[in-house]
Amino acid sequence: MNELLEVTNLTKSFQLHAGLFAQADQRVYALGGVDLTLRTGETYGLVGESGSGKTTLARTLVQLEAHERGTIRYLSSDGSAWEVRRGDRRNLERYRQEVRYVFQDPSSSLDPRMTVGDLLTIGARQRTRGKDRAGLVARAREGLDHVGLRASDWDRRPSEFSGGQRQRIALARALVTRPRLLICDEVVSALDVSVRGQILELLLDLKNRFGLSMVFIAHDLDVVAYMADRVGVLYGGRMMEEAPSRLLVEKPLHPYTKLLFDSAPGAGIRSRETSAQKLTPTRALTGCPFAPRCPLVIDRCRTEIPLPRAVGPQSGRLVACHRVEAE
Ligand SMILES: Nc1ncnc2c1ncn2[C@@H]1O[C@H](COP(=O)(O)OP(=O)(O)O)[C@@H](O)[C@H]1O
Ligand SMILES: [Mg+2]
Repeated sequence: MNELLEVTNLTKSFQLHAGLFAQADQRVYALGGVDLTLRTGETYGLVGESGSGKTTLARTLVQLEAHERGTIRYLSSDGSAWEVRRGDRRNLERYRQEVRYVFQDPSSSLDPRMTVGDLLTIGARQRTRGKDRAGLVARAREGLDHVGLRASDWDRRPSEFSGGQRQRIALARALVTRPRLLICDEVVSALDVSVRGQILELLLDLKNRFGLSMVFIAHDLDVVAYMADRVGVLYGGRMMEEAPSRLLVEKPLHPYTKLLFDSAPGAGIRSRETSAQKLTPTRALTGCPFAPRCPLVIDRCRTEIPLPRAVGPQSGRLVACHRVEAE
């Protein structure tokens, strides 16, 4: 195995109870069998509107959620490949040091009672089971510098910082365990437009400096394409299209990817979604989840799941659509 991560047929559902979002009890497939490969050193971008399954995928990758079906294989730093599973305590411990998750809202992920110093060291100390305490504190202090904060920030609390600075703290915390892979889930979405660019540049800088691989998740296709080497387009818990960023931007092929581009810029498609529409894609386990909204839909789309297939000569592009012709 040469790839850092190899994900096949990842499946995860949630039970919804009758109420606000469902008329009756039903099972919602947040991930309906996702394949994804992450190469070492690569940034893989994941895009899709709200409810498409991005966060579930991220949380499953770091095993905050257990998957029901499918496999996640990881190429460890010692060169051995193993399957990421809940029960595998020993490997999972190392995996959680090497693969770190950073998410959208730093306010909710940073305990307001703790100082920055505590935030950076307490979790990491648990992860490393108290080993190398001095090294850890030194790395945490260095981490502040790497993310553009001051040494004097060590004793301050999250509430004393702006949103952008809090996201810097969250990044510093992720770096303490010397990760190889960062999973960034909408890390700039909650920030003012004016500081988004700074955090994106910081991420690129950290990636180069530490040779990180990255899964970069956002609902904004422009941002994802800017950050990523390859982009996967998720809808209704399924991968609709995957291609090198430039190729995807120059020529989106899947009808859903085209729709994503048409609805740019800014809030785009997301703001036009009603909650009913948002839930629609995740229900279907037969056929294409995009069929109800697709301008090219035919009967076959409602009954037969379109599997991702290579389109274009050696382009590295996969499209899951019955209607897109191989070129
Ligand atoms: N804990 C949960 N319980 C029930 N449904 C959930 C839960 N987490 C996510 N879902 C559902 O799974 C789908 C995908 O959600 P999510 O992964 O958060 O999407 P995204 O991050 O792309 O907005 C949505 O329909 C959402 O309502
Ligand atoms: Mg999300």
